[in-house]
Amino acid sequence: MTILSAIAWSCDRKPYAQGEYLYGKYCSSCHMDNGSGLEGVIPPLAKADFYEANPNLLPCIIRHGWQDSMLVNGRWYTQPMAAVDVLNDVEIGNVINYINHSWYPEMDYISAKDVQSALRECPNIPQDTIPLKIMTK
Ligand code: HEC
Repeated sequence: MTILSAIAWSCDRKPYAQGEYLYGKYCSSCHMDNGSGLEGVIPPLAKADFYEANPNLLPCIIRHGWQDSMLVNGRWYTQPMAAVDVLNDVEIGNVINYINHSWYPEMDYISAKDVQSALRECPNIPQDTIPLKIMTK
């Protein structure tokens, strides 16, 4: 086995390692390791109806944060989320794939290209108080 195929194999075995690491570093302090959030203060990431209804918003939420209230699993959350703007497009994709792998196995794997096309839509997304589903198109 060459070194290269050994690396490819190990990546194959743990495709979510970087996303898991980045989630632990940049998200879990608020959303918790198990994605539960903090009831009434920080919305959950695991089985969150808001995210399920608006998966295309996640790259924008990570890159730009979110200013106003949102309704998640029947509760309003009113604290803004600060931008996590140290993550590049590939890293954002890895965090999202880790989240999907952990809590939304039905969602497709997303590429850096998908992240970039979602990020192009950010200026069109209203940042005011919103109901569950935002239409971006
Ligand atoms: C300092 C605390 C904090 C950190 C760190 C943080 N968030 Fe958030 N997040 C929030 C808060 C508070 C909200 C609710 C925002 C609002 O109501 O305007 C939120 C909302 C969200 C939402 C939409 C609601 C939902 O649950 O579906 C998603 C998705 C999300 N965050 C993902 C992430 C990801 C991914 C990271 C790491 C890259 C992250 N957040 C880091 C506090 C945080």
